[in-house]
Amino acid sequence: MTDTTSFAQTFGREPEHRYSAPGRANLIGEHTDYNDGYVLPFAIDRRTTSWIAARSDRLLRVTSTAATPGDVVELSLDDLAPAAMNGWSAYVFGIAWALRERGADLSDKSGFDIFIDSTVPVGAGLSSSAAIECGIALAFNDLWELGLDRKELARVGQFSENNAVGAPTGIMDQSASLLGEEDAAVFLDCRTLDTAVVDLALSTNNLEILVMDTRVEHAHATGGYAARRASCERGAEALGVPALRDVGVNDLPRAEKLLDAETFRRVRHIVTENQRVLDTVDVLREQGPRAIGDLLVASHRSMRDDFEISTPELDLAVDTALEHGAVGARMTGGGFGGSAIALVDREARTTIANAVTAAFAAAGYAEPVLFTVHAAQGARAEL
Ligand code: GLA
Repeated sequence: MTDTTSFAQTFGREPEHRYSAPGRANLIGEHTDYNDGYVLPFAIDRRTTSWIAARSDRLLRVTSTAATPGDVVELSLDDLAPAAMNGWSAYVFGIAWALRERGADLSDKSGFDIFIDSTVPVGAGLSSSAAIECGIALAFNDLWELGLDRKELARVGQFSENNAVGAPTGIMDQSASLLGEEDAAVFLDCRTLDTAVVDLALSTNNLEILVMDTRVEHAHATGGYAARRASCERGAEALGVPALRDVGVNDLPRAEKLLDAETFRRVRHIVTENQRVLDTVDVLREQGPRAIGDLLVASHRSMRDDFEISTPELDLAVDTALEHGAVGARMTGGGFGGSAIALVDREARTTIANAVTAAFAAAGYAEPVLFTVHAAQGARAEL
């Protein structure tokens, strides 16, 4: 873990502030966010930390533990524009740009020196990018005294991701990173941004969440994610609704008559997944986490067969975990790679992890990275 020394070595002075923000895992509700639907993610105990000191000029100067030492990227607050940003520093500069685009007056603000370190694995589908964005958004909001609330900061993060980074993602990741709470999931209505904290009660039920990172890298700026989003928008238009959130399970027979077979499968995933989120929230509240296994498995099958965003590696991780006693398992995040999660008894964790590792070796896949996560608090000021 970096300490203030790395900051001092880079910038020749001590940091003044430290902010951190978590990555996320999604318990259930996949690709529902940009359909104005429901999601149930939780912030994880893997965080991005930003050490910050104010400057007297207008420069934002940024580096990270992942960069070559001394390799500092800078941009003036007078030059903020998506075209002036590339690579990972867009996650930082993009937030300043998005704040301004959404109405913040930055004309009299000064810049910062920023050093970023992260324990959120990159490319694992655990929102390492949202973790940077949300820690930085909270820091800029505080230090520039902008007075925005966390829901608006989530919107700022999504706006930056969509328009500065260029990935057409929804609002789930930023909401989880900003609104997460210990041992709880964030139940979010992505149309209204109404939230409720839902107790996961994992430790009292002797359960853990095992992350199974397949190490198949996914990229959202291109390819399948955007194609799925376009299918959903086409489906909503053909059905005459603003978003697929407005289609219920009872409307599916009518949808099947109106849509081509592929669009119908995409729509069916979203419609049934929204219902599964609502059901999961009810079951968690009424019966506890041990009873949600079937919903998790049904969600995975829907992503595999209807939305077609799983991979053979994700399917193998999920199936192996279930065969060896997991309560439930599903891929998490955007798909096309990244991670699956399994809800497991604490005592079964090692057996399940070993079985998944062995199954990957037998299939000739890269060795997966397996670790448990706990639901953690959202973005916060550390000092
Ligand atoms: C990615 C996006 C989110 C969401 C998920 C799928 O993580 O960033 O907005 O769409 O995929 O649920």
